[in-house]
Amino acid sequence: MSFGLSRGRTLDVSGFGLGRDDLPDESAGPVDPRRWFDCPDRPFELEIGSGKGTFLVQQCGLQPDTNFLGIEWTGEFYRYGADRLRRNGCTNARMLHENAVEFIGHRVPDGVCDVIHLYFSDPWPKSRHHKRRVVQDATLKQFHRVLKPSGLVHIVTDHPDLWTWTQEHVLRATALFERLPFTPPPSARDGEVIGTNFERKYRREGRPFHAMTLRRI
Ligand SMILES: C[S@@+](CC[C@H](N)C(=O)[O-])C[C@H]1O[C@@H](n2cnc3c(N)ncnc32)[C@H](O)[C@@H]1O
Repeated sequence: MSFGLSRGRTLDVSGFGLGRDDLPDESAGPVDPRRWFDCPDRPFELEIGSGKGTFLVQQCGLQPDTNFLGIEWTGEFYRYGADRLRRNGCTNARMLHENAVEFIGHRVPDGVCDVIHLYFSDPWPKSRHHKRRVVQDATLKQFHRVLKPSGLVHIVTDHPDLWTWTQEHVLRATALFERLPFTPPPSARDGEVIGTNFERKYRREGRPFHAMTLRRI
């Protein structure tokens, strides 16, 4: 994949990207990602599967007093997103090259996140791959653990089967989360749900979208 880069151009993630090797060894215990920012006491929002970083670039300028961490496991997207944050001067955003489910489940301390964003998560349509979907009973428990009281989870998908799967999991988690209607963020353009790359691509194909917000109980 070239992402439209000119041949030979080097992506510069300096200061805006954290690779797997930048994390202390797991034996060191939890890692507080808020400390990766100049002002660690600000509200902290986490995006799972940031892709090319469109949501982060759009939203972090509108919320300059919030810190954003995008977690992306595909190396080329991670590097593209971190370089894009650097080019756009997004000093309140970082990209982490990691499996978000493992990072949240094993490294993030309790009660540090204000909001978790999950947009157009990979649907893994084959039954034998469903275990790779981000939304699982165990993941919702981990979201609940790392969120602050009344913290939010925003979920958007175009995929009907993944939507059904997500609703079923949320129904089993009513002790953890209250379901609310989804409100598009200020960065979404008129008529958009969230305004990520995948939404814009799928919108051109005429696909319908599904969205929900969960509030931590
Ligand atoms: C379909 S793309 C959507 C990208 C972006 N959110 C958007 O809406 O344009 C899903 C992205 O999530 C990433 N991803 C999937 N599972 C992940 C995980 N467990 N941890 C980190 N990234 C993940 C994929 O590499 C991919 O870039």
